Amino acid sequence: MSGVRHVAEVGEWGGVPLAQVLPALRALEPSARACWLYDLDALTARAGRLVRAFAPLRPAIAYALKANGLPAIAQRLRSLGLHADAGSLGELELASAADFAREARTLSGNGRTPEEAAWVAQRGVDCVSVDAAGELDLLEAALSRTGAAPLCVALRINPGIATANHAHVATGHAAAKFGLSPAEALELWAARARWPHLALEGVHVHVGSQVLERAPLVAAARDALALADASAARGAPLSLVNLGGGFGHDSTRDGGDFALEAHAEELAALAVGRAVRWRLEPGRWLVAPVGVLLAEVLRIKIRRDADRERRFVVLAAGMNDLLRPALYGARHPIAPLAPRAGQPSRATVVGPVCESGDTFATDVHLPPLEVGDVVVIGDAGAYGAVMSSNYNGRGRLAELTAESGQLRRARRGETVEDLRGRDRDDVVPCLG
Ligand SMILES: Cc1ncc(COP(=O)(O)O)c(C=O)c1O
Repeated sequence: MSGVRHVAEVGEWGGVPLAQVLPALRALEPSARACWLYDLDALTARAGRLVRAFAPLRPAIAYALKANGLPAIAQRLRSLGLHADAGSLGELELASAADFAREARTLSGNGRTPEEAAWVAQRGVDCVSVDAAGELDLLEAALSRTGAAPLCVALRINPGIATANHAHVATGHAAAKFGLSPAEALELWAARARWPHLALEGVHVHVGSQVLERAPLVAAARDALALADASAARGAPLSLVNLGGGFGHDSTRDGGDFALEAHAEELAALAVGRAVRWRLEPGRWLVAPVGVLLAEVLRIKIRRDADRERRFVVLAAGMNDLLRPALYGARHPIAPLAPRAGQPSRATVVGPVCESGDTFATDVHLPPLEVGDVVVIGDAGAYGAVMSSNYNGRGRLAELTAESGQLRRARRGETVEDLRGRDRDDVVPCLG
């Protein structure tokens, strides 16, 4: 719990007193009882630390937009020299709108579409990671229509490396959907002349997210380099090594911040004598700890069950806002903004959504709480707001930034009218 207890003790975020945030937002959104808040000062500091740590490797560091696509965050990272990694057409547009130049944009992930292929062919990216051989044909067809210079392509490998994180965020083991087998990749690199509009000369590994041990990431880097050597030996040298993201952050655990500097040192040692371009794609590590979810307490329910008494703290935010506990069993630090005097006792912190899975924490020790108190949920800057939904007819929450004492609303909360906005009754003409 140290992460958020610290927040509550410090009492401010980006120089803004936390106690003022929801009341200030209510001047714009009178019924707001919860919101996201990101500290841009802290984001800047974290990006600086990342860049300094990896400086000896001189990698392009492409922020994984999927972690948090708020334009204010993307723009800040761009202004600090980071690149952007997109995973979809929407994120390509986001990268472009945030002014990432074509050489500062990449596309990765699986399930490429003709529209994405057309986008990269027409508007350009530095490199595309390919997850299946058929995507090469898709990209080749799109590139051949534009006559653009050959597009840099990296093959994403499934190295068969297991990580100790939740199964849903482990992406490098043999049963995961991601990546090509090393043997297939070697064949594709050797056959690269089949795709004349592609510069098929990169290798990409990304073995998971929320990885706290360095060993699997180092193993993946070694595998990537071994494959680059094997490909060179077959007459197809590689010029790009993309090591993906995955650096974890979990302030509910001791040692919950990935050992970035030690990792960077080890990678720099592996890189000695290699004339390749390096690329990293961190998301979570940059943004997780700079974000909090603030939520008012709607209700305190004490239930006297046969086995024991239970205290349920019902928040104005639910699993539709922060899905990670329900989706991954993720733990987030939780603390009251202004702890009341009194003995802490066990509490189960839940949301108002009609699912038992709508539980942020079970049996955590919290001080006395009352209706109207505000609770801070920490480590909420990554894979938080981006995964929120309208489930249970709930509008997505406002997203605010704080920097040097200034609070800004970077994205407004959704209204009931927004929820109705896509409803139609269109006749859909059937063909044939
Ligand atoms: C290909 C790729 N790169 C980078 C990332 C970012 O991972 P993280 O946010 O854990 O650093 C992801 C996330 O799943 C990913 O799929």
